[in-house]
Amino acid sequence: MVDTDSFGRQYRSAGVWQHVGTQPRTTASPKDSDVKITDIQTILTAPAGIRLVVVKVMTDQPGLHGLGCATYTQRARTVASAVDEYLKPFLIGKNPLEIEDIWQSSFVSSYWRNGPVLNNAMSGVDMACWDILGKTADLPLYRLFGGKVRTAVDTYRHATGENFKEVEDRVREFMEAGYRHVRAQVAVPGYTTYGTNESAGEDPLPENQRVELFEPGPYARLVPCLFDHLRSQLGDEVELIHDVHERVPPILAIQMAKDLEPYRLFFLEDPFSPEDIGYFQHLRAQSSTPIAMGELFNNPNEWVSLVSERLIDFIRVHISQVGGLTMARKIAALCEFFRVRTAWHGPGDVSPVGHAAHVHLDLSSPNFGIQEAREFTQAEQDVFPGCPELKEGYYWANDKPGLGIDLDEDLAASFPIEDDPPFDMFWGNVRQRDGNIVKP
Ligand code: CO
Repeated sequence: MVDTDSFGRQYRSAGVWQHVGTQPRTTASPKDSDVKITDIQTILTAPAGIRLVVVKVMTDQPGLHGLGCATYTQRARTVASAVDEYLKPFLIGKNPLEIEDIWQSSFVSSYWRNGPVLNNAMSGVDMACWDILGKTADLPLYRLFGGKVRTAVDTYRHATGENFKEVEDRVREFMEAGYRHVRAQVAVPGYTTYGTNESAGEDPLPENQRVELFEPGPYARLVPCLFDHLRSQLGDEVELIHDVHERVPPILAIQMAKDLEPYRLFFLEDPFSPEDIGYFQHLRAQSSTPIAMGELFNNPNEWVSLVSERLIDFIRVHISQVGGLTMARKIAALCEFFRVRTAWHGPGDVSPVGHAAHVHLDLSSPNFGIQEAREFTQAEQDVFPGCPELKEGYYWANDKPGLGIDLDEDLAASFPIEDDPPFDMFWGNVRQRDGNIVKP
């Protein structure tokens, strides 16, 4: 019994696929098969209480392995499954130095492609392969990317507070520590506000039923007043950033960009959600506030026109979310021609391995803009020896080969990820007064 599937391949009831009218397939892939992937493992760990996903690619060369960041913290175990149950059997025996081929073939290996789960899984493998290449060449990755175009990586940190004075004090602390760029967010009285630390106090409801209340109007009116305060108290030198986090209706974000113009932001982040990118041309026509966008992007169709039409100033993709270093390098190169600068997404739910990848890219990209930074906890530094170092507001790379970062697996196992609840359920539970869901 012979049947034909929708791709024109014959299917025999014995369960064996055969191609119609073609020669039997040969394994054309590994051209120089001096290195082979022997195993791929996913490590889930939470040394700072944040669920991290790290991928380790092993080879047949003694001691030669690579690490990659695959952190999609809200769906950590789903990414682990995509790596362990699908990518690993696809990649065993292949050459980890054929990085582009591994990326391209993995991308289409699910037929249905893209999306945060599959892209993060691919990123874990992709960064690990770059790490292996660096170790094979005995060079830090920034050397393989063309060498340093800067000595160190300028960064920004997050200042937050219950009122303007608290935010001002926090910005001052960062300035005194040497930072030249600070993101500022303030609590809106009566509402939970993105980027602020206030807690709603004891809540008797189960976590999946707790609601965080947010209204766009009071927030959009308060933010320009915050920056008026900060500029008058802190002067013109410090570069200030604000993240809208896609929470307000598009026309209100346009109003905010105009209201913030007198305070000369370094950038306004995520004024619209990815579903509303059609609004960028309207924003551009009305405001000169610099715009950063992209941490939720997974598909080139989301960024190509924004960049080529010069509608944003900083690209902010979450590197593991777009498939790793291979894709991020192409994005950086595309942006270079349109004078769009990089500002890779760098919060606590990027693993230290991912932060190390940022540093190598930032050091070697002429159109680098700024790096969102994080001071690693002692536990993170112990689990990930070789974490990038922050000094006077700059990240510094070590000069070890590859990504220059390692993983203490025994110690990582002593910081298991929490499964009850399996993610922070404030995601999906931010609502307006009338109950309508707000993008978080
Ligand atoms: Co953001």
